[in-house]
Amino acid sequence: MNPNSLVSIADLTKDEILDLLKTAEYFERHPNSKILDGRVAATLFFEPSTRTRLSFETAVNRLGGRVIGFSDASTSSSSKGETLHDTIKMVSNYVDIIIMRHFLEGAARYASEVTDVPVVNAGDGANQHPSQTMLDLYSIYKTQGTLYDLTITMVGDLKYGRTVHSLIMAMQYFRPKFNFVACQELAMPDEYKRFCDEKGIPYTETTDFSPEVINSSDIIYMTRVQRERFTDIMEYERVKDLYNLHNSMLDNSKDNLRILHPLPRITEISYDVDANPKAYYFDQARNGLYARQAIICRARGIKPEGMTND
Ligand code: CP
Repeated sequence: MNPNSLVSIADLTKDEILDLLKTAEYFERHPNSKILDGRVAATLFFEPSTRTRLSFETAVNRLGGRVIGFSDASTSSSSKGETLHDTIKMVSNYVDIIIMRHFLEGAARYASEVTDVPVVNAGDGANQHPSQTMLDLYSIYKTQGTLYDLTITMVGDLKYGRTVHSLIMAMQYFRPKFNFVACQELAMPDEYKRFCDEKGIPYTETTDFSPEVINSSDIIYMTRVQRERFTDIMEYERVKDLYNLHNSMLDNSKDNLRILHPLPRITEISYDVDANPKAYYFDQARNGLYARQAIICRARGIKPEGMTND
């Protein structure tokens, strides 16, 4: 296993997280460089993606590297029965970094254990999405001016939502308070509530997306109910439209409130929120480019030239 792989946000220390944020900030000011010149990255997406794949690929291109891979696993030999083990072994012959999304929880960890090439987890089932978390942290830091002492309200699919799971773990260093808003079927799993308890992180849990919750929040993190995670489509239909954020619900919210969403959105944020200056989800997605440039540099064990002088 390559020690620079990023499989879970828990692989990063607080200092490493802060270092990545500093590097992301550098890339926002200096998006183009040649530090991956001559290097090749593989993007292996066994699950659909727009933002994660395209921003990783843009990041590699802006760093001067090149990209191979697939965005549809049915066009790869996995559709003929080739195992993940063999796919990773093969791709490792060709590239300097593997960026992988897979529908199975633990797939990225497994991949990282069968290769010496650094593996970056671009999402594994309902488990983890660490690069999303780095861009979320960067977005929170940019909009709040700090990561400390913030009230973060997570809404929607907290059961299968890998982005909220990763964000809870990353925020352990910054004295957060969480509000978990979800229906019973999609409630935050016990393991993440236990994690909060063990780390002394206060949280509330409610099914009601109430004005009190909204008006006390610094960040509202909306999530999509993910149809692809349900085995029972009737259950999906029952819960898919329970939480909808409308512009009028923000009338008495804090000035510093920002609305985040990993996207894609379906119905959980009304289009009338988009014009509100507190809507930050499209800027958040742009921050993904800088955060992923930083993650790629860490994976390759390199620092952007001139960063320390800036
Ligand atoms: N946020 C996110 O992971 O989006 P994509 O599924 O489009 O990559």
